[in-house]
Amino acid sequence: MRQQQRILITGASRGLGASLARRLAGQGIHLDLCARDISNVRELSETLISLGSTVAWASVDVADIPSVTEWIETICSQVPIDMLVLNAGVFDGRGEDGALETPTRAAALLGTNLTSAVVVALTVAEKMRAQNYGHIVFVSSLASFAAHADAPTYSASKAGVTSFARALREDLASSNVRVTLIHPGHIATQQTQQHIGAMPGLVSSEVAADRIVAGMRRGKSEINFPWILRLGLACLAILPWRLRAKLNQPFRFQVRNLPPSERS
Ligand SMILES: NC(=O)c1ccc[n+]([C@@H]2O[C@H](COP(=O)([O-])OP(=O)(O)OC[C@H]3O[C@@H](n4cnc5c(N)ncnc54)[C@H](OP(=O)(O)O)[C@@H]3O)[C@@H](O)[C@H]2O)c1
Repeated sequence: MRQQQRILITGASRGLGASLARRLAGQGIHLDLCARDISNVRELSETLISLGSTVAWASVDVADIPSVTEWIETICSQVPIDMLVLNAGVFDGRGEDGALETPTRAAALLGTNLTSAVVVALTVAEKMRAQNYGHIVFVSSLASFAAHADAPTYSASKAGVTSFARALREDLASSNVRVTLIHPGHIATQQTQQHIGAMPGLVSSEVAADRIVAGMRRGKSEINFPWILRLGLACLAILPWRLRAKLNQPFRFQVRNLPPSERS
């Protein structure tokens, strides 16, 4: 039996990823964390170490497949991974000028939110299957059920993550590898600073991380919150699209590109 559990979290420098790292940290837990910009992670690292964890940071762009694959392979060549949390993500959509994101930005978003999650999960899943244990956690979104007219690419990226995670879970069912799929609603992070519009059920990243970790510890395979929004989206999904579009009107939004001075 190994003394230490190894948990890898992508996009852990702030927001939900940082809160999940704080919630999962503890004695006997080694955390491998990444983000593109890791220049401001000192305070977070000190907190994680004070909670009993050891921590290693890497500056990795998960959309850069050779880089993220090299990071994963280096880690796996040392010690097996117990848990992989695929959290890194970006948000984009209709800007304040009313225009949707450009095709180039849409392709970049898919690379970060969907392609990288699929590639990293497959890389790690094979290793977990071979070791016959492990846990892969996908951070998707309630947007995967919403098909937001103001963020079609983001919605598609999260619907892709949800579909992939459900398929992978079934494929891995005969091994001792768990897959957990998270569908959060609005969480107060840099992502929601970009969202201009109503955000019903907004919670802090600490509350979101508490719900996720509590659900994982209860062995849930899918964690959705707030449940009322999940229920509302399930009801909307069975309506004709014109009626659904009418009911969605109060929740239409725009996406702000944050200037560097406002980034957390
Ligand atoms: N906030 C919400 O309302 C909400 C709701 C549902 C789902 N989610 C999902 O929750 C996850 C976390 O989002 P958040 O709200 O915490 O957003 P956030 O505050 O913007 O944090 C995103 C994290 O991901 C990292 N990241 C972004 N692109 C990356 C890349 N290409 N490579 C490596 N790291 C990258 C960021 O660091 P760098 O920028 O330095 O790389 C940061 O650490 C995302 O998957 C998001 O879609 C959020």
